[in-house]
Amino acid sequence: MACSSFVKLNAAASSWIGGHQSVNSRSGSAPRFSNRRVSVVRAGSYTDELVKTAKSIASPGHGILAIDESNATCGKRLASIGLDNTETNRQAYRQLLLTTPGLGDYISGAILFEETLYQSTTDGKKFVDCLRDENIVPGIKVDKGLVPLPGSNNESWCQGLDGLASRSAEYYKQGARFAKWRTVVSIPCGPSALAVKEAAWGLARYAAISQDNGLVPIVEPEILLDGDHPIERTLEVAEKVWAEVFYYLAENNVVFEGILLKPSMVTPGAEHKQKASPETIANHTLTMLRRRVPPAVPGIMFLSGGQSEVEATLNLNAMNQSPNPWHVSFSYARALQNSVLKAWQGRPENVEAAQKALLVRAKANSLAQLGKYSAEGENEEAKKGMFVKGYTY
Ligand code: 13P
Repeated sequence: MACSSFVKLNAAASSWIGGHQSVNSRSGSAPRFSNRRVSVVRAGSYTDELVKTAKSIASPGHGILAIDESNATCGKRLASIGLDNTETNRQAYRQLLLTTPGLGDYISGAILFEETLYQSTTDGKKFVDCLRDENIVPGIKVDKGLVPLPGSNNESWCQGLDGLASRSAEYYKQGARFAKWRTVVSIPCGPSALAVKEAAWGLARYAAISQDNGLVPIVEPEILLDGDHPIERTLEVAEKVWAEVFYYLAENNVVFEGILLKPSMVTPGAEHKQKASPETIANHTLTMLRRRVPPAVPGIMFLSGGQSEVEATLNLNAMNQSPNPWHVSFSYARALQNSVLKAWQGRPENVEAAQKALLVRAKANSLAQLGKYSAEGENEEAKKGMFVKGYTY
């Protein structure tokens, strides 16, 4: 792309980006900026559309349904209700979810796995069209999963940059308008400076490539719940990780108005002796976000990370008790699907009940996005935690 396509975006984004670069800080001399063009963001042919897409996903009372489990992980979900991991069963499950009448009242985006993006209902209607009919933006998981990171403390890095531009262009043609890349950071493993830098750089490269191909990137450095550390330690690591992520996003000329974030909530480690209240979690999480995330970013769409359905909803609700600079919402997989699977059990006669269960969870989180949720009447199943050590996606 030619340098002449550089444009000034807005004061918030540009001063933030400019803050990293080219300040002459020699003692005794006044700060001086080099004549490099620092307060600019590269505008691509999709910029307006990206900003519009991100805004429409981050709309009041709405969040994201994440059903982008890889075939292996979807197999684990199906196994939990005694079903084999066949394409037919995966398709039946995704059909149940994506054809739920009224889903668009609460859900503005759905993250799909590649197989699902190209699938149709048993009646031949493309899943992408089912979503469009409900005003839900189709999204796609584009990372290729985690592998060991040599030279680190048993940590991992996320693959998928090779060929990403051409894959993204194909996904756009198929109807996807946003993307997701999930990498992880482990607190008990350190995290090492190498692992954090690799996670941040990979996310930034992916974000730039996605935007270049018309997909709004969801930026997801998941800080795993694993560990027995207190909440303060999670806050410290989250601040470090997000600082690096934004540094590299800026270096890669990513348009902040055209991204969405998918952070973990700041909680104590899953094995810490003391549980934290929703208010404590909300306080720590919002503190971290206010310190690290520019207001140019339209939406914060949390992952659930192994919290119970009710916990994830209560925590989100606590974060929306006063106005935030960004839309603060959900992009849950486990915390939206657990009750659905239990209700379905793989039986066609249970599809309606399972769809009702999905609507119950979606509505609860929609209310939490608006700060109006109460856990009254929630059933015991929805209160069960789903944490799995070293969870893979
Ligand atoms: P949960 O942690 O909510 O299960 O989902 C994580 C994720 O990245 C789904 O896209």
